[in-house]
Amino acid sequence: MSFTNPNLRFADRLGKRSLNSYDEVVEILKVVGGGRLVGEVRVTGAKNSVLKLMAAALLAEGTTTLLDVPDILDVEIMAELLRRLGCEVSHDQATSMVIIIVPAELDHRADYDLVRRMRASICVLGPLLARCGAAEVALPGGDNIGSRGLDMHVEGLIKLGARAVNEHGYLIASSQQRLRGDSVYLDFPSVGATETILMAAVTAVGTTIIDNVAREPEIVDICTMLSAMGANISGAGTSTLTIVGVDALQPVTHRTVPDRIVAGTWAVAAVITQGDITIRNARVEHLEIALEKLATAGATVTVVDDGFRVTMDQRPLSVDIVTLPYPGFPTDLQPQFIALNAVAIGAALVTENLFEARFRFVQELARLGADVRTDGHHALVRGRSQLSGAPVEATDIRAGAGLVLAGLVAEGVTTIYGVSHIDRGYAEFVPDLQRLGARIIRIDEDAD
Ligand code: EPU
Repeated sequence: MSFTNPNLRFADRLGKRSLNSYDEVVEILKVVGGGRLVGEVRVTGAKNSVLKLMAAALLAEGTTTLLDVPDILDVEIMAELLRRLGCEVSHDQATSMVIIIVPAELDHRADYDLVRRMRASICVLGPLLARCGAAEVALPGGDNIGSRGLDMHVEGLIKLGARAVNEHGYLIASSQQRLRGDSVYLDFPSVGATETILMAAVTAVGTTIIDNVAREPEIVDICTMLSAMGANISGAGTSTLTIVGVDALQPVTHRTVPDRIVAGTWAVAAVITQGDITIRNARVEHLEIALEKLATAGATVTVVDDGFRVTMDQRPLSVDIVTLPYPGFPTDLQPQFIALNAVAIGAALVTENLFEARFRFVQELARLGADVRTDGHHALVRGRSQLSGAPVEATDIRAGAGLVLAGLVAEGVTTIYGVSHIDRGYAEFVPDLQRLGARIIRIDEDAD
């Protein structure tokens, strides 16, 4: 067992081992609870935007440059996926820049070994179909947070004239001619389905109208980049997207929208530790409900230059939450708020409407002494004055973040396994926590 240098950037740590052997490495976090987090952090670009921006690059031959790219495992997986499709991809961690050189001819098959590691790989489906007239994408795995179907992606592509079959674990989509615009209605404002259909429609013949689309800031970000590439899109950020197909797109340089979920995680960290954190490169307008909830819990939130500051000087009050598509309360902050409620005064009802398995995290939190009962998609959290440190396992990215937050206030040592989940979405998490005063270390169990 040895300490991992937390100051090494993610890709440097990964550099010691291949992406494939990364799974075999057992890294753990040890957190000693107690103490306020005080100071300043800067949030990077959003994971859930940049992965799709990287896929959108496939739509244009030439060199796309993405700025403010987070140093996280999922970006490395997406980079590898694009390389397998024939692109040259370089990621300069020092400047947070990714450069993607897209060739005239692309391969159109995304294999299971990468797709199984990251469900977001499915976002190459739309661009590949648009560029190559064919796409074969292994059916994804990813987070352990529920069934997560693809029916709306497929139905949308069929509406645009594609054929789609599921064979031998692959989703195979093809189209003899260019896709043609049509009206598509989504049963649910799915982020992924909106992106797939949008990216397939930008070069279709004619006009596509997609109704009941997702309105997340990350969708707006993709629309902004596609528009700069020459796409004709209106309605970004509303429930209806209208896309007038164009013949071809050009590569661009684009800055990724800040990660509102990482910003929200830092905000909860300030409140749960009764601390004072200034979060830069963060947008309050992307987190309105979550910040309102923190104010209800007793925190003070003030807008500052390029971000906001969250201060707390008392034990938090419990807050009910109901997860919903944007602009509702984000499911990706639900575990962090359960952790907060676990040490709050009073009881809170948490309703999860997007991913049924996200409550798996509750069993881990219970190991720290949290009092949480679940029934279907509801959880009743009764706040306790003190949690107690224990070994726990992160079951997905946000569960990992929630467990770290709980560990920050639990008495004694909390050991967190499944660190690779946290690496998928949080860049520089441990060094940033240390700078804010947390007593946390990362330990590499496989090293001598
Ligand atoms: N759904 C279907 N059929 C479909 C598509 C979706 O039934 O064809 C269902 C899913 O099963 C799920 C719900 O619709 O119950 C929402 O799924 P959505 O498509 O909106 O989510 P996603 O695109 O799979 C993205 C983020 C998630 C985030 C959700 C909701 C990425 C890579 N992932 O997932 O992020 O929770 O939107 O905001 O963008 C995370 O970052 O930790 C994470 C899980």
